Amino acid sequence: MALSEESLVDARDVVDSADSLIEVIDLHRVYGSGILAVHALRGVSFHVGHGELVAIVGPSGSGKTTMMNILGCLDRPTTGQYRLGGRDVSTLSADELADVRNARIGFVFQGFNLLPRNSAVQNVGLPLRYGPPLSSAERHRRSLECLSVVGLAHRASHLPNQLSGGEQQRVAIARALVNNPSLILADEPTGNLDTRRSEEILALFQRLNRLKGMTIALVTHEPDIAACCRRVLHFRDGVLERDEPIVMRSLDTNDGDAFAVRDPAGPTPSRGVECVPCVP
Ligand SMILES: Nc1ncnc2c1ncn2[C@@H]1O[C@H](COP(=O)(O)OP(=O)(O)OP(=O)(O)O)[C@@H](O)[C@H]1O
Ligand SMILES: [Mg+2]
Repeated sequence: MALSEESLVDARDVVDSADSLIEVIDLHRVYGSGILAVHALRGVSFHVGHGELVAIVGPSGSGKTTMMNILGCLDRPTTGQYRLGGRDVSTLSADELADVRNARIGFVFQGFNLLPRNSAVQNVGLPLRYGPPLSSAERHRRSLECLSVVGLAHRASHLPNQLSGGEQQRVAIARALVNNPSLILADEPTGNLDTRRSEEILALFQRLNRLKGMTIALVTHEPDIAACCRRVLHFRDGVLERDEPIVMRSLDTNDGDAFAVRDPAGPTPSRGVECVPCVP
């Protein structure tokens, strides 16, 4: 659905006006009904402040993806409240949820979910097609800026199958950044990557969190990846078993205000999308 400027402003207000970005209150999600009902979430409550970097962990089937889908306004709880930026979004219509999602949430998935016949820069620009109308030149410029942030402007015209797994995931992260979201949700973003590529992705998340103040929640099965966050939410059987602040294992070795992923062909970001530049 295309966004009008007016609905975009409203949707952005949803997440800009509260101390906690996320407030989840006694959330339940039941799939199906009767004897086939699956209670995926059974009364989950937590808050996430602006600028937090949070890992969600737990055994298979514990409700992590169900939780992420609700946080991402892709799904609604059966009962309970989900407040995003102070506003109860659990009862919004599908169109209203789509507005909030497009305006302020970036998604990263385990399988990258890139369109195979579209180039890297076209993939990054896809979310811009659902926002206020932009010229194709402006879409291209913003997309290239975000590819530059993840160090891949020099791969802009490559198709996904011409990129490594780690590069594909960085394209997917650039796509998540293109609407300049407040919240990035990543469901097992390193699930298909080896250790080195996984650490590159986590370093990128840590930098986006530190330099842009982005709130990031990621699901992982790997303790080493969860250790790269500042807080771990442990799910089990649909409940939040433990909410644990941790000392973050920092992979972000760049002390300056630039991204360590170097991009030899990266353009200097200009006004429009607030991407942080790479090291020239
Ligand atoms: N669309 C659906 N219909 C019915 N049951 C579902 C649906 N989606 C998920 N479930 C069930 O809800 C429970 C939680 O699933 P969910 O996908 O949230 O788990 P998860 O923690 O993400 O697991 P994994 O680590 O394997 O990805 C599981 O028992 C699952 O079978
Ligand atoms: Mg899952």
